[in-house]
Formats: sequence, C-alpha cells, structure tokens
Amino acid sequence: MASSFSSSLASNANIMLLVLLLASSLMAAFASNFYQDFNLTFGDGRAQIVNNGELLTLSLDKYSGSGFKSKNEYLFGKIDMQLKLVPGNSAGTVTAYYLSSLGPTWDEIDFEFLGNLSGDPYILHTNVFSQGKGNREQQFYLWFDPTKNFHTYSILWNPQVIIFYVDGTPIRKFKNLESIGVPFPKNQPMRIYSSLWNADNWATRGGLVKTDWTQAPFTASYSNFNANACVWSSGSSSCTSKSPSSLANNAWLTQDLDSTSRWRLRWVQKNYMIYNYCTDLKRFPQGLPPECSNTN
Ligand SMILES: *[C@@H]1O[C@H](CO)[C@@H](O)[C@H](O)[C@H]1NC(C)=O
Ligand SMILES: *[C@@H]1O[C@H](CO)[C@@H](O)[C@H](O)[C@H]1NC(C)=O
Repeated sequence: MASSFSSSLASNANIMLLVLLLASSLMAAFASNFYQDFNLTFGDGRAQIVNNGELLTLSLDKYSGSGFKSKNEYLFGKIDMQLKLVPGNSAGTVTAYYLSSLGPTWDEIDFEFLGNLSGDPYILHTNVFSQGKGNREQQFYLWFDPTKNFHTYSILWNPQVIIFYVDGTPIRKFKNLESIGVPFPKNQPMRIYSSLWNADNWATRGGLVKTDWTQAPFTASYSNFNANACVWSSGSSSCTSKSPSSLANNAWLTQDLDSTSRWRLRWVQKNYMIYNYCTDLKRFPQGLPPECSNTN
C-alpha cells in the first residue's frame, strides 16, 4: 500500500517534470529571448532589447553605430535569425550579421546587407573565412524587399558543409574540401555578432552614394532567434536542439542539400547572384581557388 502510494507520487512527479520540460522546450522554440542569448556590445543606447526580450533593434546615427554578440560560443549549428533591414534611403549603411571565432587564424561566416537609395535593391554580401583567409565573396539581390517585413536568414554549419539560407531557400553552399587542401572551419567555436555601421566609403555603388544623415537614425530589427546548435563551454561542446520535433535527433549535424534544395540553389544563383569570386578570373590570374571547381 505505502509503496504503491509513493511510487504513484514518484510517477506524478515524473509526469510533472516531463510537462515542465516540454513546456520549456516549446517556449524556447517559439519565444526567443534576446536578453538570455545576447549582450549589447557597443553604441551606448543605440542597441536595444525591447518587448520582453522578443525584439532587438540596432541604430546608427552620425556619431555611432551599434552592435550585439551572442553569450554562447557554438561549434556547429543551424542558426536562424529574422531581420528587418533599414528602410527608405539606407545608402551607405551596412548591417552585418555573422559568426566568428577569435585570433589571427579566425574562422568567419558572413551575411552583410549593403543599403541603397529608396527603391533600389540591397545587396546581400556573403563570405567564408577559414583560418584567417577569406576572399570568397558572393553577392546577391533578394527576391523581396527586405525592409518591409522580417525574413529569416540562416546558417547551417556542420562538419561537412556550410549553407546560407534566406527564408529556407539555400543561396550558397561551401563544402568541406579539406581532401583537396581547402581549410574548412571546424575546430574553432564561433559567436554570433551583428552590427549596423556607416560604410559609405565603399558599400553603395562602390562608395559613390553617401549616407544621408538627415535620414538618421537608421534602424534594423531582429526577432525569432533560434539555434539548434552545439554550445561550447570550457573546452567541450554539448549539442542541444531547441525544436521539440527534433529533440532526439540532431538532423542538422549531417544535413546537406537534397535534390529539391539543389534545384532552388541553382535558381537563386542563376537569377539573383550578382558577384561570384569563383568566376572572377581577373582577380585570380594564377587560377581560381581550388574549391571553385567542386561546388556541389
Ligand atoms: C555578457 O554580459 C554579462 C553581464 O555583463 C557578462 O557577465 C558576460 O561575460 C557577457 N558575455 C560575453 C560573452 O561577453
Ligand atoms: C543600388 O542600386 C543600384 C542601381 O539599381 C545597383 O546597381 C546597386 O547594385 C544597388 N546596391 C548597392 C548596395 O549598391
């Protein structure tokens, strides 16, 4: 009698625990909290977390830009962030959103959004650095106005591949080609960084169009951060999946493009890519980088 009573107490407690765990993982999946995951790094009040942590805004004026970085370091992950970029005349401004490690041989995976005059297209600039070496730029126009609504920009980073996505559509793939001598970021944990700054010496039409400070402050917004990722702490990493459907299953760790997504990648590259280092023969007179002949 006594023992069955206590075991039913114990199983009630287990059920409670399960409910709590499920509830907290659901919350993690649906309500990202910028207070929990990020620190503001510069800008002295120009970066703000509002709406109980659901929204982060960066702004830029004549005196300063602003920025933030993740509290965690990650070694591999599928990282999603929604951004709404500076509207109107954003010429000269750059919104950078990237992963980076530290030190002279750092790794980095970049999204940079180059502003433009009202009605003219932003450029989405991407790059991959491994062991301190970049020079792997690809640039795109977007198929929507990125200032009207939030859109999701994602980085899938696992030991085999880095894939950049926009609203779930792959726009760029950088494959692990260590087998032919191309260094691949896989040993250095990276933080997420973002900043909004003035780059009117180069960003818009190569620096011809300057920032119009009468339009300041310029503001970009962030929401719905989600990381299914391996969090690095004191020399080891533990992988967590915040999305309940994949709790038991870190599918992203081995994910690559399937045939449908390969088709979509080709569609973007054919219709929206405006610069590709892999076709820039003038820039590489000694021959294109080795990864350029093996892109699938
Ligand atoms: C974030 O800010 C907190 C509080 O100021 C600090 O303790 C922590 O070290 C910061 N994290 C990083 C990664 O800078
Ligand atoms: C700005 O608009 C011009 C004209 O459409 C275009 O050539 C350029 O690529 C656009 N983007 C940037 C960042 O200069």
